[in-house]
Amino acid sequence: MEDTAKLYEDLERVLVRREEITAAVKELGKRITADYQGKEPVVVGILKGAVVFYSDLIRELDLPMYTDFMSVSSYGAGTESTGELRIRMDLTNGIKGRDVIIVEDIVDTGLTLFNLKKHLAGRGATSIKIATLLDKPARRRVELEADYSCFTIPDAFVVGYGLDYNEKYRNLPDIGVLSPRIYQK
Ligand code: PRP
Repeated sequence: MEDTAKLYEDLERVLVRREEITAAVKELGKRITADYQGKEPVVVGILKGAVVFYSDLIRELDLPMYTDFMSVSSYGAGTESTGELRIRMDLTNGIKGRDVIIVEDIVDTGLTLFNLKKHLAGRGATSIKIATLLDKPARRRVELEADYSCFTIPDAFVVGYGLDYNEKYRNLPDIGVLSPRIYQK
């Protein structure tokens, strides 16, 4: 048997319950809707972690908007450098003269978004803002602040609501702290 209840046994604890997530996403949708009145932003989801958050968030945006997606990672980051951006999958359309909202599941060291923001700015976007579900400031290695953030969390290994461990747990409706026994195996 490998049902969702079984997956919850791999968690140390639930950190953010689905009801709290729903309320926070609704609230964020209202804020973004108010801030982008008269605009038609391009909302860029960063695969794969952000897909669940993204699909809930865009349905709370009472605005005309464009969807697009990217898959990126930061690599080669030594202690002193910020590394480089590796683009696994690029946007479908150009963003020159567009207002861009990057949607992420988590800002951890900040390297991915630091490099991505710089990169997208080079493509001539009018504005670039970051909306993240989770913010883990304790791990930050570069100066990077999300413009919109739903939850600030402690330095723990979290899964669920899009976040994974080896591609598993993304379908959990809640966000939980994974038991160390799972990744120490
Ligand atoms: C996660 C997350 C961010 C990045 C944040 O992606 O979605 O893109 O790491 O980390 P950073 O702030 O330290 O750069 P991950 O590489 O785990 O891929 P996934 O979204 O496909 O799970």
